[in-house]
Amino acid sequence: MNVVILAAGQGKRMRSDLPKVLHQLAGKPLLRHVIDAAREIGAEQICVVYGHGGEQVRTALNSVADIAWARQEPQLGTGHAVLQAMPYSASSTRTLVLYGDVPLIRASTLRRLIEVAGIGSLALLTAHLDHPQGYGRIVRIDGDVTRIVEEKDADDAERAIREINTGILVAPTAALARWLPTLGKRNAQGEYYLTDIVALAVAEGMPVVTAHPDHAWETEGVNSKLQLATLERVHQRNVAEELMEAGVTIADPARIDVRGELGCQLSCGRDVSIDVNCVFDGHVELADGVSIGANCVLKNCRIGSGTRIAPFCHIEDAVVGPDGIIGPYARLRPGTELGRDVHIGNFVEVKNSTIADHSKANHLAYVGDATVGRRVNIGAGTITCNYDGANKFRTVIEDDAFIGSDTQLVAPVTVGRGATIGAGTTLTRDAPPDQLTVSRAKQMSLPGWKRPVKKKKD
Ligand code: UD1
Ligand code: CA
Repeated sequence: MNVVILAAGQGKRMRSDLPKVLHQLAGKPLLRHVIDAAREIGAEQICVVYGHGGEQVRTALNSVADIAWARQEPQLGTGHAVLQAMPYSASSTRTLVLYGDVPLIRASTLRRLIEVAGIGSLALLTAHLDHPQGYGRIVRIDGDVTRIVEEKDADDAERAIREINTGILVAPTAALARWLPTLGKRNAQGEYYLTDIVALAVAEGMPVVTAHPDHAWETEGVNSKLQLATLERVHQRNVAEELMEAGVTIADPARIDVRGELGCQLSCGRDVSIDVNCVFDGHVELADGVSIGANCVLKNCRIGSGTRIAPFCHIEDAVVGPDGIIGPYARLRPGTELGRDVHIGNFVEVKNSTIADHSKANHLAYVGDATVGRRVNIGAGTITCNYDGANKFRTVIEDDAFIGSDTQLVAPVTVGRGATIGAGTTLTRDAPPDQLTVSRAKQMSLPGWKRPVKKKKD
């Protein structure tokens, strides 16, 4: 199967400098959704017809292997567009035409279309709409498709037809190669219409068959930001339904967003619950019994079983162990690895650090480039001073240490096993194990001291 994806249109109505097919749905370019659908049905050869924003489209998708690119310049219509792909399409097989701005097409629908197409027919994906305005209409005589008429070329009777052309079709590649160079452009738009191949097939006696999508949204295109947002919601609803069918509790399926360049990669164990307004990006794993509070953003991370993420947490490129309590208002940055039963409280930021089992940092702290042992308590306001303005250094805090509130640990520095650091300490040298280390001016009181009073003006 050859797949030709039309993506040369400008997308003026997006009112954007970004080529239309690069706008994202669920964090993934529209065109990438279509390429992935083509891959899902086992396409052997995929050719993208590009034009507007040309090189930008190619560069954005150059990580996708095995795509042929056909440039269409200028854009003279859908028939002209498919013609550009012919040199990249093996003539012994069939060609499926898809659209780079129709992102939610499903493999199941495409498989059905391919099946009705058989070997020697032209197969059209059509739909019956209550409001067919704007689409090409399927003209039938005695039930047989005879041609497609574009809205702008249609008479009143034809405009009343409610069966529309979705644009997606399957044809024998050799027939396409024969028909496309013969298309004319004497029509209302002065374009080479791909849809004119229907009448050519009928004239040759080739059967024209139809199939229909399972859902209307599968064949809806994106021409504006409004349509983009509408399809985004449809997609997110579908993802939410899949998660709920798999047993995930979702407080409001209209208020969850799952995004990612590689598609939905949120995997959930049993009895996971997700409160409202959470965003999951990239590869996220939530183990059994995890609960995610409202308004959390989780990107590329793993959360261990039984861990509770309280509201308003931001977690990225991090691993959180089981039975933990994170947040509210915690920020776990890249390179964070937390063991079992770790508590990270409000306004605590952790970066490139490991914190071992049963340790806690419950309030207002910065833990960066640190290795923290087990059962460590990090007091409120503690800061690892990891950066001297030029280089970064590590802080090591061994098992059972207790870091008093408002401590600065000036790295590189080590706090020994079981050590206690007095509140307010600025630690610049290693603290020995099991001792109290404190660096703080001795407290004193001045008997008889008087507050200054304001001088009287003369
Ligand atoms: C086309 C169909 C119409 C169908 C509708 C479904 C034709 C003549 N008409 O109309 O029957 O109901 O789609 O949405 O095919 N493109 C190119 N190069 C071009 C022109 C278009 O790559 O020179 C691409 C566009 O980027 C777009 C797609 O082809 O992705 C459809 O083009 P568009 O102009 O939107 O076609 P319609 O007029 O909507
Ligand atoms: Ca269109």
